[in-house]
Amino acid sequence: MCGIIGIVASSNNNIVDEIIAGLEKLEYRGYDSAGVAVICSDRIERVRAAGKLQNLKTKLESNKISGSVGIGHTRWATHGKATENNAHPIMSRDVAVVHNGIIENYKELKFDLQKEGYIFETDTDTEVVAHLLQREINNGCSPLETFKNIMKLIEGSYAIAAVFSSFPNTIVAAKYRCPLAVGFGENIYIGSDINSMSACGEVVYLEDGECVEVTGDNALFFDTNFQPIEPKRQKVSPDFVNVGKGEYGHYMLKEIMEQPSAIRRTILSNKIDGEIFNGVSRILILACGTSYYAGMVAKYWFEKFLKIATDVEIASEYRYRHPIIGENVLAIAITQSGETIDTLEAMEHVRKNSNSKVIAIANVRNSAISRISDFIFYTEAGMEIGVASTKAFTAQLTILAQMAFCNHEFLIRELQNLPTLCEEVLSSSKEIEDLAKKIHTANSAIYLGRGSLYPIALEGALKLKEVSYIHAEGFAAGEMKHGPIALIDDNIPVICLCPHNELFEKTSSNIQVALARGKNVIIFSDLPGSKLLPSEATKIILPRISEEFAPILHVIPLQLLTYYVALLRGTDVDKPRNLAKSVTVE
Ligand code: M6R
Repeated sequence: MCGIIGIVASSNNNIVDEIIAGLEKLEYRGYDSAGVAVICSDRIERVRAAGKLQNLKTKLESNKISGSVGIGHTRWATHGKATENNAHPIMSRDVAVVHNGIIENYKELKFDLQKEGYIFETDTDTEVVAHLLQREINNGCSPLETFKNIMKLIEGSYAIAAVFSSFPNTIVAAKYRCPLAVGFGENIYIGSDINSMSACGEVVYLEDGECVEVTGDNALFFDTNFQPIEPKRQKVSPDFVNVGKGEYGHYMLKEIMEQPSAIRRTILSNKIDGEIFNGVSRILILACGTSYYAGMVAKYWFEKFLKIATDVEIASEYRYRHPIIGENVLAIAITQSGETIDTLEAMEHVRKNSNSKVIAIANVRNSAISRISDFIFYTEAGMEIGVASTKAFTAQLTILAQMAFCNHEFLIRELQNLPTLCEEVLSSSKEIEDLAKKIHTANSAIYLGRGSLYPIALEGALKLKEVSYIHAEGFAAGEMKHGPIALIDDNIPVICLCPHNELFEKTSSNIQVALARGKNVIIFSDLPGSKLLPSEATKIILPRISEEFAPILHVIPLQLLTYYVALLRGTDVDKPRNLAKSVTVE
């Protein structure tokens, strides 16, 4: 949530365009407002705009600012509406600040600062940071000292970068429970993620409580006690920078189309040794959103093939319900971003309250999850920019399949065919585009699946909600008769996942029941000739593969369907309303 950037140029070049280019790469983190502030001589010049980054760009055309040291921000609003006034950078007299995270004790701090005469002009929690820094400047502190002093006062989560009009060559930045990296290229860059640092060959990821002071071409790092440190610089992986849309109109479509290669790379780079399950009597999966649905699929696989009891928990619920962890538990966090705070906190809870081994499946390298996991498996999906997760999901399923089938050579061999079959599914996208025309005007949609296809029904419904804003619900097909069937009429599309598996006949009966009550029934199946699939329904036929892989093949047309429905409804596919790519607030 929220993207922050800072640049200190090595020369006197104007860096405003570069800040904007960086914000373009970070916009997926939040797009409620955007702003930029630069030091111009000994003044801070700032331009902000509500709404997407484009509004800021338009404003900058008539309101030109220039400077060689500056900060920028793209916001996902937490405290205060998405107005220009609440847009970052937030200023006190001589200080401008950009912030990602939440200052949890901002009310107390605000109360004290107001008593001291500081005037608050925004509804944000961040404004206390600006005034606290200003107070330290007033007391004669250097930029670094201001951070040292205020980091003792603020509670919550933050990645903060600040510029000071009286120290025109300096940016100071610090982080706690929100990501922050420092990149080294022609200039020195500070950013929420390295995606915004395409000009950097090397990067340093800050740890919680660490701080960096950048002046000219020099970056000084400090640990939690403000002792100087020399963190290791890492090479920047090209997969995580320079990510464009290529020939596609949207990242979402590009990322859907990239799934065969993402799966192929993931298979090649992960060899799972069954030893990780030795002595494990229970697997505990913690995740949110789409990653949670990947975990739900894994439960079916793990219990069937590893014969290990598996629980899948919504991370945001888990630690607040006093869970009993037990002995010999293997905890697995699943997260694309590696920075979802709910998942991180749930994993921390397991670490602190048990001696369980905690491992993670993540897509973004060096993200926070890597620091609290005993071991991490990386999905090789490459940078996922579209807010709706697609390729990361199928890559997660791929690793989970590798884990589940680690002792089943035949299935591991068959997994190699999956990318080619995914290509086959993607090549029939025209059929799905036509199908979208049949459902895009609906107010509501139902997705049905049984067994490991039930989580895929949930995922299909989540995708449709997120990107097209059509209300959609996923149900276990067998559960329909216990209530949800009341929703069915001729207007509601009922999307049924019916691969040829041990539940095929049961699912096809559920489809008959749905068809008796509504006429807009759509079936996805890999068994074209079956008499059990009613001829009145619209059918989309998928390639055959072992039934275990059906969840991966079936989710792809659902992603495409969502994409084409969203296009027809004219929504902002890559930046759907109210959402942000990584969720770093509870
Ligand atoms: O980065 P994570 O996988 O931890 O994110 C979890 C969810 O926030 C994420 O999957 C979300 O539900 C997506 N918008 C789904 O498309």
